[in-house]
Amino acid sequence: MTESAADRSIVWSDEFLIGIEELDYEHRCLIEDINKLYRELREHVDMDRTKATLGIIYARMQAHFALEESVMVSHKYVHYPAHKAEHERLLDEYTERMTKFDRNPNPGDQKAIEDILRQWIVDHILTSDKKMSLMIASEDRT
Ligand SMILES: [Fe+2]
Ligand SMILES: [Fe+2]
Repeated sequence: MTESAADRSIVWSDEFLIGIEELDYEHRCLIEDINKLYRELREHVDMDRTKATLGIIYARMQAHFALEESVMVSHKYVHYPAHKAEHERLLDEYTERMTKFDRNPNPGDQKAIEDILRQWIVDHILTSDKKMSLMIASEDRT
């Protein structure tokens, strides 16, 4: 992953590709939305706009997790329960922070939101999603 130190944006690279086209597409859209949020937080744009972007990211994450879970179920992925639990935890953490920020925006919550989203990208796509796609691909070959 490449990260610009100046603006903390996440730069898309092939490293993120997991090889399942529709999921790769959604990961890319999510990263674009996250970068949009980072830009808005950094530039202190209108708070309503930032809150709307937070909501868009939430909806995208929710829809993405649902699609990914249906892929895992249809392939009878053995680690499905753990992966689904990870999705739920990420969504819970994000919701909690988003709600706090919505009520009373402060730099501490802003930093927490940025960190959760970064963790989502770095840890989750690069480890759990990749592991899932590799196992599914290897089982499809057998
Ligand atoms: Fe994913
Ligand atoms: Fe996932």
